[in-house]
Amino acid sequence: MYGPTDKSRKPVTALDLMAMRSRHERIVAITAYDYLTAKVADEAGADFLLVGDSLGMVVLGYDSTLPVTMDDMLHHTKAVVRGTRRALVVADLPFMSYHASLEDAVRNAGRFLKEAGAKAVKLEGGHPQQIACIEAITQAGIPVVAHLGFTPQAVHAIGMRVQAKTGDTIRELVAQAKAVEAAGAIALVLELVPAEVASLVTESVSIPTIGIGAGVGCSGQIQVIHDLLGLYADFQPKHAKRYAELHGPMVDAIAAYAGEVREGTFPEASHSAHVPASELPGTV
Ligand code: KIV
Repeated sequence: MYGPTDKSRKPVTALDLMAMRSRHERIVAITAYDYLTAKVADEAGADFLLVGDSLGMVVLGYDSTLPVTMDDMLHHTKAVVRGTRRALVVADLPFMSYHASLEDAVRNAGRFLKEAGAKAVKLEGGHPQQIACIEAITQAGIPVVAHLGFTPQAVHAIGMRVQAKTGDTIRELVAQAKAVEAAGAIALVLELVPAEVASLVTESVSIPTIGIGAGVGCSGQIQVIHDLLGLYADFQPKHAKRYAELHGPMVDAIAAYAGEVREGTFPEASHSAHVPASELPGTV
């Protein structure tokens, strides 16, 4: 049932990701947002659970990741950690938690390890300001996963589209990938970049690359758990593959329950405790 690295069920560490890349073992990553999604993904053998700030959209109902706060992220990360035995839990630094100063970046990154029990953090971008954050957080002893290509926290600046499609932007992406590696990142998420470009980036760095909408040439893949399980009927990004269609069965189950409550056929006798009629005081 589990992959080759899962047999021991030993917790995956940040260093293990690097070893997996050297052994050409593909890394399986998925988002998790609470105790149940973490438990299910961990049991299924995922190596890396990301408490993504995508929870703003798929769990909290916002239309972007921007409103997500440190308190939101800490609350959900604690639940994910409680549900995880083996996978490496990585928490997303939310918008504006690392943008104003390096002190903010290090302090907020540290809260995920100290208060929530995560083992690493992720932050978006490869400009000098973000490179400095990766360096400062790494120097504080906190493993950092970088995130390049489409970076959802910059949606209003770059638009929601495939990135790095021209010579100059491809060269810039490769340069940023090398810079995040030099700054100490332990892995690199590549989101919405052409497959050929993601392969080129993967060959240009020695840290593992984790792709989403970035082709099969990355060292591993990540998907949003709601997309993979088909939990939403009305939303399917092009890069997502549904391995189940759970929205319909969930609606059907709750509709069946509603029908039985309304017609008085639930609960059945077996769902309640009972006392002999002789114990019942007579009505006065
Ligand atoms: O927040 C998130 O879920 C992510 C993944 C899409 C990589 O950053």
